[in-house]
Amino acid sequence: MLQAPDHIKSIKPYVPGKPVEELERELGITDSIKLASNENPLGPSPRAIKALRKGVAGLNRYPDGNCFYLRNALSEKLSINGSDIIFGNGSNEIIELAVRTFLGPGDEAIMAHPSFVVYSMIVQAVKGESIIVPLREWRHDLEAMASKMTDKTKIIFIANPNNPTGTINTKEEMDSLMEKVPDSVLVVVDEAYYEYVRSADYADSMKHYRQGRNILILRTFSKIYGLAGLRVGYGISKAEIIAEMNKVRQPFNVNSLAQIAAGAALEDQAHIAKTRKINERGMKYLCRELKALKIHFIPSEANFIYVPLDDDAALQIYNDLLKEGVIVRPMGPRAIRITVGLPGENKKLIEALRKIRDNYH
Ligand SMILES: Cc1ncc(COP(=O)(O)O)c(C=O)c1O
Repeated sequence: MLQAPDHIKSIKPYVPGKPVEELERELGITDSIKLASNENPLGPSPRAIKALRKGVAGLNRYPDGNCFYLRNALSEKLSINGSDIIFGNGSNEIIELAVRTFLGPGDEAIMAHPSFVVYSMIVQAVKGESIIVPLREWRHDLEAMASKMTDKTKIIFIANPNNPTGTINTKEEMDSLMEKVPDSVLVVVDEAYYEYVRSADYADSMKHYRQGRNILILRTFSKIYGLAGLRVGYGISKAEIIAEMNKVRQPFNVNSLAQIAAGAALEDQAHIAKTRKINERGMKYLCRELKALKIHFIPSEANFIYVPLDDDAALQIYNDLLKEGVIVRPMGPRAIRITVGLPGENKKLIEALRKIRDNYH
């Protein structure tokens, strides 16, 4: 019988947030809401939607494998060379490209826990070794991560802000890490939620890129830009690193509609500002209400909130909330993660939590 090798068999599949349609089908309910996948609750920019309508007529053609227009727009916005950017089918694909390019069987990648689970899944898929460093006070412990470097270390993953905790690492912490990292290691700074951060202490990854360090900065159009369904993300690094990664990239990895919509969304910074404002207000409201309900949570710089639990109640709370038509994300047995929604959605969540409060201990 055909068998996958052991290192593939032992990968735990990624469990995505439940789609609203699935919940409504299963429970025969309507008006349910999804606060599970850190999406933009406002939707895509109207400019992106308009551009998409026009772009549909060209679907008989292959996309531009070079993302010419999007690359130009982004390089201008960021004041960097176009050759320092790589586009992916979501930033997920760029994580995969980085691992496939720089990490072989037996090589090590250092990452935090809990953090974005895709890092370790991809490392495992290429027979690499994930070196897991627990968060300290819910933040990446960059000092401990640096201390785990060996001759086999090829990549250090830092999600900043971290998913699922929404916490950030500071300039000082990042500067100190970069001083310790040798030339043989790539630091991947995953900034999927970068646009939401308000703290003045937030690490300046672009500074290290400008200094020519081995850093790959990941960003995405899936979160604040509201285009998760189209799958487009990008990486910023020095041209030599990008050139190596391009060798393992599929030629048409970013579809034409994704390129068109991302270009239009990039121009609509008013939509981004509006999203940020709605998130900020929603975050304030949720924090205030969670406090009132005496539910402990971790202060977040992103568009979601991590709620650690004292016992294994996550699945119970998740299921109870489903029955109230609210989808959140259980994160293992002892935590749930809640995405900030629109005002009405946030209110619905708080009302549901109030109703099921007795399940908390
Ligand atoms: C930290 C982090 N990185 C990367 C991604 C992947 O995003 P995408 O592939 O949609 O760009 C996510 C999505 O949840 C994330 O939370």
